[in-house]
Amino acid sequence: MSAPLELTLTLYPSPVLRKVTPPISAFDEELQATVTGMLEVMYESGGIGLAAPQVGLGLRLLVINETGDREKADQELVLVNPTITSRGKETTLYEEGCLSFPEIYAEVSRPDACTVEAQDVKGEALSLELTGFLSRIVQHELDHLEGILLVDRMSAGDKLRNRAALENLVDDYKRSR
Ligand code: CO
Repeated sequence: MSAPLELTLTLYPSPVLRKVTPPISAFDEELQATVTGMLEVMYESGGIGLAAPQVGLGLRLLVINETGDREKADQELVLVNPTITSRGKETTLYEEGCLSFPEIYAEVSRPDACTVEAQDVKGEALSLELTGFLSRIVQHELDHLEGILLVDRMSAGDKLRNRAALENLVDDYKRSR
């Protein structure tokens, strides 16, 4: 097995976070190495989900562990080419964070339940009916694959409340270039 890819977290407002990702067609060792590398970044950053654009990769790929605990590898969920095929009618407002927006939190309204069709890392078809926290995480991560970010989902009030932190991220990005 190949070694995990060395990956680093991509922060807002990096343009790669805005790209719509194309589907993955090669279910090979490189994909496995990418998944392993993404899980490493997620755990190191204290996250519970990570989308490929958040490590600078234009791939339709998510990794999730709702416990955030690397010891609980049985809770890991790897979704390749995921799409939401149905959404529940009930919605809930719940506070979300995002590894690409450190220190920023905002309430986001989303459907409670969703059905997701995807493939696993070997290309096998998956169909998941999700509710609760896991449903929310998957919907947040799936947004990333469409170039949709937490800042797009937050209310005007939350945007105002987080304005200084958002401006700091933009300044840091400009300075890093
Ligand atoms: Co995010």
